[in-house]
Amino acid sequence: GAPVTANIGKLEPGQLIRVEWRGKPVWVVNRTPDMLKSLAAVEGQLRDPNSDEEQQPAYAKNQHRSKKPEVFVAVGICTHLGCSPTYKMADFDAHVEGIASGFFCPCHGSTYDMAGRVFSGVPAPKNLMIPPYMFTDDTTLVIG
Ligand code: FES
Repeated sequence: GAPVTANIGKLEPGQLIRVEWRGKPVWVVNRTPDMLKSLAAVEGQLRDPNSDEEQQPAYAKNQHRSKKPEVFVAVGICTHLGCSPTYKMADFDAHVEGIASGFFCPCHGSTYDMAGRVFSGVPAPKNLMIPPYMFTDDTTLVIG
C-alpha cells in the first residue's frame, strides 16, 4: 500500500484523529503534558514497559514510543483479538487512580496507556503496534 499523509497542524491538545493505512486504523494523538507525565507513573504496572518484545521502529523504543514526544502514532487494533480500543480522555481508572487517559478495549477489557503500552493482567499480549512514519514538515505526517 501507498503511504498516507495526515495534516496534524490543527490537532487540539488531547485530540485523536484516525487515518486509514493499509486497511488499518492508525491513531494520531496530540498528547498533553499531563498525558506524557502519566507514562512514567504507570511503568510498574505494564507488561512490557520498554517495548522489548515488540517489532517496532527503533524511534519508538523510548518511554513515549514516538519520534516527537507529543505526537503519538499507533495502529488502533487491540493485540488480543483485533477489536478497536476506545480512547478515554478522562477517568481512565481501570488500573491506576489518577491516570487521566488511555485506551480501553471493550471486547475483553484490555487496557493500554497513552503510549499504547499494555497493562499487566489483561488478555492483550503486546503493546499496540507502531507503524513506520515520518514528518515532512511541522504539520505533515506521512505513515507508511
Ligand atoms: Fe481487545 Fe480481546 S480483543 S481485549
